[in-house]
Amino acid sequence: METHSADVAIIGAGGAGLRAAIALAQSAPSLRIALISKVYPMRSHTCAAEGGAAGVIKPDDSLEHHFNDTVGGGDWLSDQDAVDYFIREAPTELLQLEHWGCPWSREADGSVAVRPFGGMKKQRTWFAADKSGFHILHTLFQTSLQFPSIQRFDEFYATDLLVEDGRCVGLTAIEMRSGQMRWFDARAVIIAGGGAGRMFPFTTNGAIKTGDGMALAYRAGVPLKDMEFVQYHPTGLPSTGTLLTEACRGEGGVLLNKNGRRFLQDYGMGPETPLGKPVLKTMELGPRDRVSQAFWHEQRKGNAIATRWGDAMLLDMRHLGEKTINERLPLVRDMSISYMGVDPVTDPVPVRPVVHYMMGGIHTDINAATSLPGLYAAGECACVSINGANRLGSNSLTELLVFGRRAAVSALEYLQQGGRPAGGAALAEAAQARVRELVQRTGGTESVAGLRKEMMQAMEEHAGIYRSGEGLAAACAKLGELRQRYRRIELHDKTNVYNTDLLQALELGSMLDCAEAVVQSAAARKESRGAHQRLDFPGRDDRQFLRHSLAAYAGEGPPRVSYRDVVITRSPPGVRDYSGGHE
Ligand code: FUM
Repeated sequence: METHSADVAIIGAGGAGLRAAIALAQSAPSLRIALISKVYPMRSHTCAAEGGAAGVIKPDDSLEHHFNDTVGGGDWLSDQDAVDYFIREAPTELLQLEHWGCPWSREADGSVAVRPFGGMKKQRTWFAADKSGFHILHTLFQTSLQFPSIQRFDEFYATDLLVEDGRCVGLTAIEMRSGQMRWFDARAVIIAGGGAGRMFPFTTNGAIKTGDGMALAYRAGVPLKDMEFVQYHPTGLPSTGTLLTEACRGEGGVLLNKNGRRFLQDYGMGPETPLGKPVLKTMELGPRDRVSQAFWHEQRKGNAIATRWGDAMLLDMRHLGEKTINERLPLVRDMSISYMGVDPVTDPVPVRPVVHYMMGGIHTDINAATSLPGLYAAGECACVSINGANRLGSNSLTELLVFGRRAAVSALEYLQQGGRPAGGAALAEAAQARVRELVQRTGGTESVAGLRKEMMQAMEEHAGIYRSGEGLAAACAKLGELRQRYRRIELHDKTNVYNTDLLQALELGSMLDCAEAVVQSAAARKESRGAHQRLDFPGRDDRQFLRHSLAAYAGEGPPRVSYRDVVITRSPPGVRDYSGGHE
């Protein structure tokens, strides 16, 4: 098997992976860095982010405000030491991007512009029109090209982490073009593989977000933390699930029910304010969990409009005017016209909640280190945890910068402490044999598409905005059954070159692992907090559940769920109040 030796191998070349690679290359030019991704870097999902990245920059804002918004928004499940580190590093990272050429939108006086965002009581979201992710990713990618020590392996699918003597010693990956397995013999590994929203049928997530990085760590013995917390973004296009950024509401767009009422005032997010004011009271800028839950209730009251894709509410931006929409929300206008046939300049756009983000992920400490020596994780695949039970919009782009860099610093410190055991060859051979067996298997009775459909149905039906014990028990049983049946899949395509049948089978394996961690953790959490709402346990229960869940891989059986304490430094659990105003 062809072997590549590296000091640090990074899995994933989106925002977190690129930021980590740049930090490594800058700090030690002699390091050999392998940047491995199943897509070309500019196709990573960071590219799809629209609204912006949060970081304190304006004089009326403060780190304390950002801390409080994040901790309260997360329903006190965030580790406060991690949040502290995050909010302090955030402005530095965003300014660093500015220096690398990120075209942040500007105020009239030339200073960096910020816009209001959900759950943020001060304006602190930096943006580049409504293509912030594209510009951030482009900035990172072009910066990474300066460093010859970053060797890219585009279109390589990582299959296994190699663990020897209790340390991560590399990974195996399939070169998609040839179908050949490669062994990456690495002294440290950083996973930056993104989220897992594709285990649901209706999601803003690109097709690549199949939880591969999470599953790699999980199978290697690192628990997945807080997986029950799945974020619904309130405003997806009903036709495709494509995101209409929260910036639509940040700029002043309003959500209406079928009677033309701004219904959020009925769900503790009032008071109503005049349209078109540049600075809004909370209302449409409530946190995502609350706004999505309000949609659910409103729908049950019969106040949704019917579209051919199902129930929706209306996002009205007409009062913003064509000039503002073109300047601030050009992509939103383009997508509304292309995918819904609706021009927001002249008509309200139908929207509905859509799976957007995993608050949970690979359990790391504040330094982005996992419990497996030599393995680090950052970005959406990781749970560090700053987002708690509900992430605030625009914290995640900043998170992948702050903790992408942090993961690199930690990996470097690990390398400086010394070597690692030699080895990995036998493990790499075993990984290759496992994939070969999957490709060559005959007599299988299950199809990838069939199992994927059943998984998505179970997740949609039982692990959505509101959950019940009964529904979650059914989902746990279904996911357990699918885990067994997955062993009996057979591929149609048994060839080597760009075998997408094989890749989809491997991705399904990742999603099944993540989905089982979600439903098992959700079944065990008998309370309602943030994005995890139980109809049978409607209240938050700090006495029993002010704790992170940890789902540990158990091979043949369902994951074992245990708990660890949340780090509280200075903000004791309180009431989330969004009835007042943004400033
Ligand atoms: O609405 C948005 O632009 C999404 C931002 C985010 O998820 O951080």
